[in-house]
Amino acid sequence: MDRITKRFISLDRRYGAPNYHPLPIVLKKGKGPYVWDVNGKRYFDMLSAYSALNQGHNHPKIVAAAKSQISRLSLTSRAFHNTLMGPLLKEICRLTRQDKAILMNSGAEAVETAIKSMRIWGYQVKGIAQDQAEIIVCRNNFHGRTTTIVGFSSDPASYSGFGPKTPGFVEIEYGSAEALESAITPNTCGFLFEPIQGEAGVLIPPQGYLKKVREICTRKNILMCADEIQTGLGRTGKLFCCDHEGVFPDLIILGKALSGGLYPISAVAAQREVMDLLTAGKHGSTFGGNPLASAIGLSALQVIVQEKLSQKAALSGEYFKTLLKTLKSDLIQEIRGKGLLIGVELKIPARPVCESLAQNGILAKETHERTIRFAPPLIITKSQIEESFELIAKTLLRY
Ligand SMILES: Cc1ncc(COP(=O)(O)O)c(C=O)c1O
Repeated sequence: MDRITKRFISLDRRYGAPNYHPLPIVLKKGKGPYVWDVNGKRYFDMLSAYSALNQGHNHPKIVAAAKSQISRLSLTSRAFHNTLMGPLLKEICRLTRQDKAILMNSGAEAVETAIKSMRIWGYQVKGIAQDQAEIIVCRNNFHGRTTTIVGFSSDPASYSGFGPKTPGFVEIEYGSAEALESAITPNTCGFLFEPIQGEAGVLIPPQGYLKKVREICTRKNILMCADEIQTGLGRTGKLFCCDHEGVFPDLIILGKALSGGLYPISAVAAQREVMDLLTAGKHGSTFGGNPLASAIGLSALQVIVQEKLSQKAALSGEYFKTLLKTLKSDLIQEIRGKGLLIGVELKIPARPVCESLAQNGILAKETHERTIRFAPPLIITKSQIEESFELIAKTLLRY
């Protein structure tokens, strides 16, 4: 490792909590699908900050929106109105086809917001007895890192040492409509799920699952809550992953790419019947819906729509997967994915392979033990996919 890289990494190690295990690369600059390290070496960013960079690094339109707003007014708090929150809420509602939305910052906060919304709906609309509400979640879920959320994680690395777990969550098998149906009780207020489990290794439920979930949630009078923080905003080849089955959830959670990678922005959009329960004093955030975030969010959504990033992800994803499937490597167990959310499951631990990929100019990260996720920015071109595929092939075939 060179001296400059070592210097920055040692600062992180000396002064930072060791809560991540990053690749030994120190990045300094980004543009489109590329990032550069402190020595000027260029890489393809195949992680896109866990899908927060669907629009690519430093998208000029989003950067311009941020620059113009930051010099005007950045933070008002919700004690006052501002001129940008309303337009962003309206655009989120138009795109999600929901009635109302609420803005937060991180994904985990938006998930917490959805949990509170489902519970209050359970008490005030469904008539569940006080403190008895249950939310059904899936095995291997990833919804964030707050104490409540890790309390219903099935990954010991996430929850152990952080108990006691928040009560009121019931875990079922992912992808099984039967498991959902049989877990529902009169106290169930909602079902929280990822349309594809990204962090669990790009796990795709069987075709028809989302439709069945929709039917069960309606029939049993529980809220269907899709966490589209990772799968949403074009990543899987449709604007929302639920669109693949023409399914309309009662609540949809957004984050990551809502920010264009510039500033943390998240949201929950839902029907009026649910959102109107969050009355004054019930929920809030100092930074949620601030003018700077709203200007950035609005521009980030405009880029996704105007540049047809969902359609691009569908075409590029198919092409990328086809190329990957031509690889004759004994290391590969399975290649799966939707749009540009692709998982390559290996027969060996993925971490050292990611380290070799980085040496060859591809930044990707293992997710769970044996899966490498390839999720480049959606603006990646055909020739850039071909170039990155050559680098992946070179790495895997010589490994
Ligand atoms: C599906 C899903 N939900 C929630 C989160 C948490 O988002 P954040 O890290 O912004 O809190 C993530 C992050 O990876 C995610 O993939």
